[in-house]
Amino acid sequence: MLQLIDNIVEEARQYSPTTRDEIEQYRIKYLGKKGVLADLFGQFKQLPAEQKREVGQKINQLKQYVSGRVEEMLASLAGDDAREGSMDLTLPGHPVQLGARHPISIVRNQIIEIFSRLGYVISEGPEIEDDWHVFSALNFPPEHPARDMQDTFFIEKDPDIMLRTHTSSVQVRVMENEQPPIRTISPGRVFRNEAISARAHCIFHQVEGLYIDDNVSFADLKQTLLYFAREMFGQHVEIRLRPSFFPFTEPSAEMDISCQICDGKGCNVCKYTGWLEILGCGMVDPNVLEFNHIDSTRYTGFAFGMGIERVAMLKYQVRDLRLYFENDVRFLDQFQSAL
Ligand code: PHE
Repeated sequence: MLQLIDNIVEEARQYSPTTRDEIEQYRIKYLGKKGVLADLFGQFKQLPAEQKREVGQKINQLKQYVSGRVEEMLASLAGDDAREGSMDLTLPGHPVQLGARHPISIVRNQIIEIFSRLGYVISEGPEIEDDWHVFSALNFPPEHPARDMQDTFFIEKDPDIMLRTHTSSVQVRVMENEQPPIRTISPGRVFRNEAISARAHCIFHQVEGLYIDDNVSFADLKQTLLYFAREMFGQHVEIRLRPSFFPFTEPSAEMDISCQICDGKGCNVCKYTGWLEILGCGMVDPNVLEFNHIDSTRYTGFAFGMGIERVAMLKYQVRDLRLYFENDVRFLDQFQSAL
């Protein structure tokens, strides 16, 4: 009997089922109601008492071995299943969500790209400025309304320190440090104390330009801006300059581009004028050159400044400025650019 059990143990050890069905058959063969073990227990009962102890132990060992094996094999099969699940190379990959460039960045990069083709270099400066760089060096008289609390954010109740209201302040810093020829653009964030609405925001972005050299004329300004308008909005675009006023330029003008929505015929976007206002410009006031130690008897220059949001609104026909600041992905996803 002992020998018989040893043979059974050996057989059980050598048999290695691989599928769930085979394991179940293995279990039934040994542990089932009419299985090998049940049979052995039957025989065990008829044994003489003195053999029972030893044979009983062996049968129990066999039983434990077989049930251990069954559990082990089922567990390893479950493990294989799980591993195969996560390693299924035929499953499509997880989509990676791509970000899109912000429309303000797209338009800013386009403006920079157009002017850099004309030889303009980028200059940057601080967003927190002093009165000199934002106003005084730009020929703002002390009582000028633009200095008013209603327009300007002042810092720590000190009327000398403020958030810049335009990036003309950067151009003052350029003039301080360089002599002509100067040809620079200053893109950046500016701040004005305005109530937020579809048409105004207290933070927006500008690109301002400055060109100072021998014999720079208003014709150069006009041609530069025409080139810019056509590169930005299309070769059929027309521009017009209307007389205006800025403390730092004389003469000053505002530039309109022909409305592309109605082709100049008149629609509700251009308020039936056929024209859309886009930027301010003018010849640098000799006072500004002198304040910044540039010889105004030798040099002349022009300057211009535009709001990036405004250019973007015209380009993409977005009616509400606030959309640019809310960063709703559904809005931002709609703009594509190589830049
Ligand atoms: N600095 C002006 C503004 O912020 C724009 C401007 C720049 C106008 C240069 C004329 C010349 O509105």
